[in-house]
Amino acid sequence: MAIRRIRVFPDPILRKKCRVVRRVDDRVRVLAADMIETLDGAGGIGLAANQVGALQRVVTIHLPGDESAIVLVNPEVRETEGEREIIEGCLSFPGYEGLVKRSVSVKARWLDENGSKMKVTAEELFAQAIEHEIDHLNGILFVDHLLAHEKLVAAGTLEREDEPHMHDVELEVHADHSDDAIDDERNEPDESDVEIVQSTIKFSDLYSDSSISQMHYDLRSAGYVIDDPDPDPGPGRQRHNGDGQNRVESDDPHLNGGVLLDPERRN
Ligand code: NI
Repeated sequence: MAIRRIRVFPDPILRKKCRVVRRVDDRVRVLAADMIETLDGAGGIGLAANQVGALQRVVTIHLPGDESAIVLVNPEVRETEGEREIIEGCLSFPGYEGLVKRSVSVKARWLDENGSKMKVTAEELFAQAIEHEIDHLNGILFVDHLLAHEKLVAAGTLEREDEPHMHDVELEVHADHSDDAIDDERNEPDESDVEIVQSTIKFSDLYSDSSISQMHYDLRSAGYVIDDPDPDPGPGRQRHNGDGQNRVESDDPHLNGGVLLDPERRN
C-alpha cells in the first residue's frame, strides 16, 4: 500500500467524470488499498478515486468509530429520503468547510473489493458520505451545493467534529507476534509479543505545497470566503508544525483549529 497525493481544487481532474469499473481485479484492489491508506492518513471520512488522480468509479469510506474503511466500486444511489442542512468539508479543500443540503437517508448499491454486490440503506453521516463521494465521481464538488459563495468558510469557524488533520501525525502501529513463536508454550498473550511501530504521516506526503497555495488563490479569486482572515498566505509557507500534537499551531489561520479526530481508530 502507498499514500497517494491528494488533488486539491482547482485541479481539473476533480471536474472529470470517472469511468465505470468493468471488472474488480487486483489493479482495482491496489488502488482501493492505496486510497484507504491515504484516507486514513489524512483523517478523512471519504475519498473518491479522481481525488488521487484515477478516473475510475472507486470510493473508500471510513466512518468515525468503524474499525476499517469500506470500498465502494460503481456506487449508485437508488432512492433518497428527507433533507437536512449539514456542515461539510472535503479532502480536496483542506482547511475549508461549508453548509450544504443532503439527504437524511439513501438506498445505495455497489460492488465491494471482491466484486460482491452490496446493498444498504444508509443514514446521516454514511448517507452524506455516499452522496458526497458519488458527486466526486461525477465531477461535482461540495462547493457546488453551497447556498452562496460566502457560505464557504475557514475550517473551525463552524461547529464540526470530523475535521481532517492538517499536520504531520504520529501513528502507533501495534504488530502482534504472538502467533509467530514456534516453541512458545505459553497460552497467555505476552506484552513482549506486541511490537509497537511508530510511523509518521507527513502533510507533505498528502498534499503538494504549491497546489495548496493555488487552491487558496483560486478560491479567493472565485469570490469564496469573503471573511478570509489572511488574504495573502504567500507561496511556500509552512502549514504544519510536524510535532504530532492534535491541535495545530499554524501561522496560517485556515489551518488553526484542525483537530485530529478519533486517533484510536487508526491503530
Ligand atoms: Ni470530497
